[in-house]
Amino acid sequence: RLTVNAASERSYIMIKPDGVQRGLVGDIISRFERKGFALKGLKLFQTPQDLAEEHYSELKERPFFPALVKYIVSGPVVCMVWEGPGVVASARKLIGATNPLNAEPGTIRGDFAIVSGRNVVHGSDSPANGEREIALWFKEGELVDWEPTVLPWVL
Ligand code: PPS
Repeated sequence: RLTVNAASERSYIMIKPDGVQRGLVGDIISRFERKGFALKGLKLFQTPQDLAEEHYSELKERPFFPALVKYIVSGPVVCMVWEGPGVVASARKLIGATNPLNAEPGTIRGDFAIVSGRNVVHGSDSPANGEREIALWFKEGELVDWEPTVLPWVL
């Protein structure tokens, strides 16, 4: 299922190459798990240049665009789909401000990063962009349609 479930919301969360290289994958996944969101897709992936450019196509005119694309393709990333009520905005809070020097301690970027060009993780900025990004990064059949049995203790 790659379509929107009206009852819920999904976000595309990606651990960037620096997060993978620095061994932060487990810690980052753990934060979304403990919050109570449901993991619906997960893969380690070497990003092709054209996918990185498409993902960030809204930023094509920005001066940092070439550096951003080079960064994203520089090593494997971890692609994830997390689902739950309000997951898009909540994930952005867990991740922290784009410039890690402005990110609060306790957020992923606040705890682990210093500069925007190495800010460890990406999270969709709207539910519509979440769906756009999920469709870009995952193929039909790569997502698992399941409901965690713990949900009644969370929601
Ligand atoms: S802006 O200026 O508000 O449009 O930028 P923002 O929406 O905050 O960020 C868009 C994505 O660009 C990344 N970014 C950068 N990458 C490399 N270098 C620099 N200087 C830089 N500035 C912003 C930023 O991390 C956003 O990517 P994601 O993957 O969504 O975090």
